[in-house]
Amino acid sequence: RWYKYVMIKPDGVQRGLVGDIISRFERKGFKLVALKLFQCTKEVAEEHYKDLSSKPFFPALVEYILSGPVVCMVWEGEGVVKSARKLIGATNPLEAEPGTIRGDFAVGRNVVHGSDSTENGERETALWFGKDALVAWEPALKPWLLE
Ligand code: GTP
Ligand code: MG
Repeated sequence: RWYKYVMIKPDGVQRGLVGDIISRFERKGFKLVALKLFQCTKEVAEEHYKDLSSKPFFPALVEYILSGPVVCMVWEGEGVVKSARKLIGATNPLEAEPGTIRGDFAVGRNVVHGSDSTENGERETALWFGKDALVAWEPALKPWLLE
């Protein structure tokens, strides 16, 4: 199984981009297995970004993630970790290619987060959703998507 934790950050929610962003993953063909709107707590935000805790921008980053609700989701599919990173685009939105989420929608704040490895995807899924949050289901379109 390949899982990717994706989160629409507060700027994406405030700017009304939730539907469009979810649509891009849906149309690509990945399978949604968890979804929620969530007002994050400081504990969760600091744990999520703990690898960046020594960076000078860490306090501002945590404040940004707390500044409004986020949309948390988990997508499943072969190769989803790398492929979804391409859909999201480069961290700096001014360098992100057109056609990517950040390239199309952002100039500063970068709208979306995506886990960068399977291990982090699992860690982040447990952190944001807790255990047993993933829904197992069979997409009817599967034979049309996969050989
Ligand atoms: P995520 O998908 O959000 O994890 O982004 P990323 O993997 O492309 O970047 P990274 O994990 O290195 O950084 C996580 C987040 O920290 C970024 O999405 C930015 O919101 C923020 N960030 C990273 N680098 C900088 C920086 O140099 N300055 C500021 N202000 N924020 C940064
Ligand atoms: Mg990252």
